[in-house]
Amino acid sequence: MDQYAVFGNPIHHSKSPFIHQRFARQTQQTLEYRAILAAEDGFADAVVAFRQAGGCGANVTLPFKEQAFALCDRLTERARCAGAVNTLYWQADGGLLGDNTDGQGLVADLHRSGITIEGARVLILGAGGAVRGVLHPIFACSPRRVVIANRTADKAVALARDFAELGVVSGCGLDEMSGEYDLIINGTSASLSGALPAMEGVRLSHEGSTYDMAYGKEATPFQRWGQAQGGKHHLAGLGMLVAQAAESFSLWRGVKPEVVPVLEELAEQMG
Ligand code: ATR
Repeated sequence: MDQYAVFGNPIHHSKSPFIHQRFARQTQQTLEYRAILAAEDGFADAVVAFRQAGGCGANVTLPFKEQAFALCDRLTERARCAGAVNTLYWQADGGLLGDNTDGQGLVADLHRSGITIEGARVLILGAGGAVRGVLHPIFACSPRRVVIANRTADKAVALARDFAELGVVSGCGLDEMSGEYDLIINGTSASLSGALPAMEGVRLSHEGSTYDMAYGKEATPFQRWGQAQGGKHHLAGLGMLVAQAAESFSLWRGVKPEVVPVLEELAEQMG
């Protein structure tokens, strides 16, 4: 049977096996998908062992996405821009292709909810790996401009410089944020610990939306901030999780599964 897996450390919390098993059932594909805990210094060895045991493809989660990037023979453009790989796929010639489906997952979830990126003024909080991972697909949707705001301002400025060829983008400190935006995305790792940057200088436009790349059982502090501003939609990252998995599944299996039924089932489980 074709074998797939997700590598991470820790990995026991991963929802990927559930999601991919549901996709397989939905599209009538026969495959096995399991979670593999790799040692902090044992990721490359674990991937080689998985391949030797018949692995066809894999997802990669924290803390191995950069190591996965280094391991690949070929990269998609969006993975190259992300500097990180969340999807491994062994090709017919034995070469290992690395893709990054996180950003497309975010974009797909925004579109599914009726949120337009084209022409939008976008503010992104954070400048770490999670944000770098989603920028290429966001620019592919032609936003009017993107501001990246980060606690450490230098990192936001450097990240903006790296993506300057893809669109109108600038970086600043969280304490320098100002102006009105149509879409505000939280990509800091602070959300679930309850930390919310001071948002006083920022306005959400009348039809604006917010998206927290984190998610939890309850609305995140950032989602609650969004709700208090009015606007349209205030979403969290569970939809992005399922949508990035659908992109990986589609790369491996050549068929695009339905996101919504699996998302509903997951949301119910978390309930
Ligand atoms: P990830 O892979 O989740 O992006 P990361 O690369 O370590 O993880 O980046 C974490 C991001 O969350 C960074 O933008 C970080 O800001 P700094 O670059 O200034 O460290 C941001 N972050 C983490 N804790 C934060 C907090 N309490 N307030 C604001 N931003 C925070």
